[in-house]
Amino acid sequence: MARAPTPHRCSACGSAAPRWAGRCPACGAWNTLEPETAPARTPSAGARPAVVPLAAVDVDRGRPRPTGLAELDRVLGGGLVPGSATLVGGEPGVGKSTLLLQALHAAAAAGRRVLLVSAEESARQVRLRAERLGPLPDTLLVLAGQDLAAAADAATASGAELVVVDSIQTVADAATAGPPGSVAQVRACAEVLVGLAKERDLPVVLVGHVTKDGALAGPRLLEHLVDTVLTVDGDRHHALRVVRAVKHRFGATGEVGLFEMGDAGLAAVDDPHRLLLGDRRPGVPGGAVLPAVEGRRALLVELQALVAHPDAAGPRRWAQGVDGGRLAVLLAVLDRRAGLPTGSLDVFASAVGGVRVTEPAADLALALAVASACRDVPVPGDLAAFGEVGLGGELRQVPHAPRRLAEAARAGFRRACVPASCPDGPPGLEVVRVASLAEAVGACLGGRRAAA
Ligand code: TYD
Ligand code: MG
Repeated sequence: MARAPTPHRCSACGSAAPRWAGRCPACGAWNTLEPETAPARTPSAGARPAVVPLAAVDVDRGRPRPTGLAELDRVLGGGLVPGSATLVGGEPGVGKSTLLLQALHAAAAAGRRVLLVSAEESARQVRLRAERLGPLPDTLLVLAGQDLAAAADAATASGAELVVVDSIQTVADAATAGPPGSVAQVRACAEVLVGLAKERDLPVVLVGHVTKDGALAGPRLLEHLVDTVLTVDGDRHHALRVVRAVKHRFGATGEVGLFEMGDAGLAAVDDPHRLLLGDRRPGVPGGAVLPAVEGRRALLVELQALVAHPDAAGPRRWAQGVDGGRLAVLLAVLDRRAGLPTGSLDVFASAVGGVRVTEPAADLALALAVASACRDVPVPGDLAAFGEVGLGGELRQVPHAPRRLAEAARAGFRRACVPASCPDGPPGLEVVRVASLAEAVGACLGGRRAAA
């Protein structure tokens, strides 16, 4: 007699499947289906909600409370809301633990009782790390361990006003089968901790590791359970870290926080140009500066390209910090619409400083960097460029043009190559309007010269 199939759940996208399969039917990922051993937990029964006049609802209790870490509070629109659950995601080693320890330290230094549930590092390790941040306030509490019930009890018994659980993939619920980090465990633990936030009206922050492709490891369902999702991005080998709110029930998601990882943890970056353009060598072919917009901030990012003659294996394409698919499209447009064939060449492209630029506004600067490398002619050092490139080779308007122009001017650039419909820039910045990529190449690199 055939056994009844066991329900499974995908650890990548969180969708349910009636039985095991090698490939998730929903997201197509391989080997991600795990048996669902525990039934979904029902939220703990509380008092029945009452019907009240909307005008009588207490809004002051729901206002964000600053953590004291200004750059983080900015991303959160003021701070953490009591009763809210926040997920902080990022690749291992990017600085999530450091960021949250600093937030806890700042809140404790302001006299608040705060609790870190450290399920990855021992209390001793946490203390050594925290000591770098300054004297340790008595109200900064730590519980090292992986047991969910102990964490929940401690959150209640300690009287903490803010609880951080680091990480949701390493705590485990004894009542749920499966190892820490499995779908069933992560979901069970998150449900208990989110419930705790609501019941005790305190902000709870969960740390979650993300996989290489940027999905929150395991459960995307975690994103649905929490009120706010923050991501910490950055290249481990560079200092810049970008904190973004990708979901925020209590405010806008546009704001970004910029930090620099140093010996004393993360420091707010007031002048990102120093980090991003500090080592730039104007006059070297293959570089172009993009005024990028992240949330409400403009950032000048250098995009670089290098072309080379391939070895026997054939031409290679390599993209870091820029979208590989977009690079391929731009190479085709450069070939077909601007007379710059790169089909037989290796093309390497990157965004400098460990930043990732994915907005279409980066097209023009990236294409100019490649064209500059191909022609072996530098883009003028005082020129920045932005604009989307269409498949017809036309340049298209992008959002936030005035802010991009203002930032370029502020950083000392004298010219900006932009789509034809772009408004004027601030005094001192000449706006070079072009209708097509071919025109942009002509305007920025001049006439044809020897290829690489
Ligand atoms: P961490 O916060 O542990 O990352 P995550 O929790 O996201 O895995 O930080 C990891 C890196 O940051 C680690 O490799 C060392 C570095 N770091 C510093 O450079 N300076 C510091 O003051 C601290 C605390 C960490
Ligand atoms: Mg960590």
